[in-house]
Amino acid sequence: MCGIVGYIGDGNAKDIIIDGLKKLEYRGYDSAGIAVYKDGKLEIRKRRGRIVNLEEAISNEDLQSGLGIGHTRWATHGAPSELNSHPHSNADNTVAVVHNGIIENFAELREWLSKEYGIVFRSETDTEVIAQLIGIYYDGDLLDAVYRAVDKMRGAYAIGVICSKEPDKLIAVRKESPLVIGLGTDCNFIASDIPALLKYVRELYLLENNETAVLTRNAVVIYDAERKSVKRDVLHVTWDAAAAEKEGYDHFMMKEIHEQPKGISETLNRRLTPEGEIVLDGISLTKENLENFNKIYIVACGTAYHAGLVGKFAIEKLARIPVEVDVASEFRYRDPFVDDKTLFIAISQSGETLDTLAALREAKKKGARILSVVNVVGSSVARESDDVFYTWAGPEIAVASTKAYTTQLVCMYLIALYMGRLKGTLSKAECDKYIGELKSIPEKLERILEKEADIEEIAKQLYKTEQVFFIGRGPDSGVSYEGSLKLKEISYINSFAIAAGELKHGTIALIEQGTLVVALATQDRLFEKMLSNIQEVKARGAYVMGIAKEGNTDIEKQSDCVIYIPDCMDEVSPLLAVVPLQLLAYYIAKLRGCDIDKPKNLAKSVTVE
Ligand code: G6P
Repeated sequence: MCGIVGYIGDGNAKDIIIDGLKKLEYRGYDSAGIAVYKDGKLEIRKRRGRIVNLEEAISNEDLQSGLGIGHTRWATHGAPSELNSHPHSNADNTVAVVHNGIIENFAELREWLSKEYGIVFRSETDTEVIAQLIGIYYDGDLLDAVYRAVDKMRGAYAIGVICSKEPDKLIAVRKESPLVIGLGTDCNFIASDIPALLKYVRELYLLENNETAVLTRNAVVIYDAERKSVKRDVLHVTWDAAAAEKEGYDHFMMKEIHEQPKGISETLNRRLTPEGEIVLDGISLTKENLENFNKIYIVACGTAYHAGLVGKFAIEKLARIPVEVDVASEFRYRDPFVDDKTLFIAISQSGETLDTLAALREAKKKGARILSVVNVVGSSVARESDDVFYTWAGPEIAVASTKAYTTQLVCMYLIALYMGRLKGTLSKAECDKYIGELKSIPEKLERILEKEADIEEIAKQLYKTEQVFFIGRGPDSGVSYEGSLKLKEISYINSFAIAAGELKHGTIALIEQGTLVVALATQDRLFEKMLSNIQEVKARGAYVMGIAKEGNTDIEKQSDCVIYIPDCMDEVSPLLAVVPLQLLAYYIAKLRGCDIDKPKNLAKSVTVE
């Protein structure tokens, strides 16, 4: 959500910034802009829509400069217009600002700036308030003006600032929204996320909350809130730029679907000894801790929340501890029963989702122990947790999450098994059986990927549909929610997921001749019940696509088409059952001509409430 790139050095800021912004496209945006310092002035250019619009607009302009900031905006305050796009500047255009996040007291500050200083605002944004504040405080010292402005601001933000009166520096501030600093030779960078900088640098600083960085061509100095300089360890990025490229696939989403076997193996290998023992290095959960917990909350958003739904089944079944799963935006405002007997599990791919982070803080304040399942190393959720279980899926670029989900599921199974063993609710033999199953998943998943062409054929018959229902029971119901989300996210088809047994209590009223129902029937013990639910919708004219385990061919009698997944234990079937649904959503979206990796209105990492 919103992307920032800034550059200071001997290179051409414009090209470096445009290139970096393109790498951040996955975050979601609806306009783009750039400001560079040239001939004593700040030159600001903005365009609605994709970065290429901006690129084309400035392609013939001589904007050669060694200092600049750029931004992709995901509209919050004001429509996605050119006027509201970043960078924003102060009254005399000497200060330019790019900003991620929200300034909560912006209306108040806007009024104050208008009344006291006669500022006439040119946009509806909260960001312009920052530029105007820095402008009025500027008195020959940009850093000082930034500190004074920040002092007035409430909210969550990451900002980049340049000033035509001090063209030897680029200033960045972080509060809640992520910001990294790239350390080059005779040049330095800022960005909202690492992929933007990988082409240029491998050494980075991660800016912490309430820190301000002053970047010059040859140095980076980080200051804390009290303006004392702080030391920071250099983070050396080991994953290569190719990990953030499409490698021949048409879309990142398809590449990431195909990376799932590898991601799952990696997640397992990091946590299993060659003998198959689960090792939770760096996670200090003891038997006593577990016995102390009387409940677990799993809290997350979007796809991560759906991983939590399956996690609940796994933990309750294997470790026999009651689990509640909640969406983070609800959890934080409903005064939940949290105390020091609560284990709070946050699941987040990015580790920066504001609602998840806020829920985590709420739980921490009330004494809960915090365990997080996170993909991005060093992210805010990871840093604020007592224990972190990394998913090791590698960078996920497509907005619609795929490999993050399946690796999150693996983590939830490992946590459940570990807890089950620690508590004694699971025998060694049973645990070994589950581990064996998990280890067989990558190969089974490859076998589903081989059926890609079959799923594409099914998609060809179904892509014009305007309404889809996903149904399932037990862990399959969690997968139904994820399948439905994937479809609506990238194909914009109205889809709805519901526990199959609940269908008859209202939703079945919507089933009519030709309505598409995707029925997940991968649970052996619930298979017959599912067949009855399928019959219920068939009787009302539904077109049914069944998902079942190989061998359960009875489903063919009630379904119009079936995709089989390899046989596996019921508990781990979500790891396989979700894959045909990811592929179905992908092909349907492709046939409908949708922008698969960058769906409209969506952002990869949602850093606002
Ligand atoms: C956004 C993304 C979803 C994601 C959700 C949670 O809405 O578009 O794909 O599932 O945020 O993100 P997180 O990074 O916390 O897993």
